[in-house]
Amino acid sequence: MEIAEASNHEAILEAARIIRRGGLIAFPTETVYGLGADACNPKAVAKIFEVKRRPSFDPLIVHLADAGSASLYGVVPKGIPGELMARFWPGPLTLVIPKTAAIPPIVTAGLDTVALRVPSHPAALALIRAAERAIAAPSANLFGTVSPTEARHVADQLGDAVDLILDGGRCAVGIESTIISFAAARPRILRAGGVPIEEIERLTGPIERFTGSSDRPEAPGQMTRHYATRTPLKLLEADEVPVPSGSRVGLLAFTPPLHPEGYAAVEVLSNTGDLREAAANLFAALRRLDALGLEIIAACPFPERDLGIAIMDRLRRGAVS
Ligand code: TXA
Ligand code: MG
Repeated sequence: MEIAEASNHEAILEAARIIRRGGLIAFPTETVYGLGADACNPKAVAKIFEVKRRPSFDPLIVHLADAGSASLYGVVPKGIPGELMARFWPGPLTLVIPKTAAIPPIVTAGLDTVALRVPSHPAALALIRAAERAIAAPSANLFGTVSPTEARHVADQLGDAVDLILDGGRCAVGIESTIISFAAARPRILRAGGVPIEEIERLTGPIERFTGSSDRPEAPGQMTRHYATRTPLKLLEADEVPVPSGSRVGLLAFTPPLHPEGYAAVEVLSNTGDLREAAANLFAALRRLDALGLEIIAACPFPERDLGIAIMDRLRRGAVS
């Protein structure tokens, strides 16, 4: 397994060569680490599905270096999509629009739409530019598990299956991109994520939210059980204080809890009650708790505004019902 410092220009050039040859690169983005391949090389993209053990009906996000290249891969509808690109790219926003013939069907799971995003992490942008390719990349984790926010999370799960891991440190946003679909007449939010919905709606007006979930929904990343830890995760009600005596319970808390005693481990996501900081810490904290062999992880509810909406979405999908 090879891990290289993402700020090293030589490493970026090596990674770019691997992409052009049809290999797989794990690379940092501002949201989570991606498992990338040349989006226009179906064989390379097939390896992503194989390595992740991802069902072929779950489409990938295509990463671009700039909004200008969006029209090579997608048909950009007039109006709001262009405004969103101008306002939020580079950044944690993904737009689903009709695809062009440049994108092979394997990328979109046969859909006639494609998900596009321009990441803001400098190493991601440098890689896309150096490869001179659009890069298809899901999160660099095994299907259904928690997304990686540090290079070693990728190394632990996918290690030898990728040709090179670019280590760009901890992901600043820590939660996947917000996805908005323009596939139908009216835009729809398919996944809450790194750009708060409120910020988007300030520009667009109210957007319909995708709330349904099933095993094969319109936004496959919205499958009912996703982001799963091995340890059962229980999402607590607002005032619930559950410590079954004698059992090993871990607590995932937004701010320092009033009564940490009795828990085998406590992870506080933000001492100051900052939802951005909490989102950035969420997945690494879940992994740490998951590694302790606890009986259960209890998660406190988060306020459902701003990034709290995306955090609660991940916790609900990770929880056993
Ligand atoms: O922040 C992110 O979005 C990260 C980084 C690596 O960019 N990527 C990511 O990819 O979270 P992934 O594969 O874990 O989630 C991609 C999701 C799919 O599961 C699906 O919900 C949605 O994007 N998607 C992709 N193409 C789509 C399409 N054509 N129509 C509807 N949804 C689509
Ligand atoms: Mg994922």
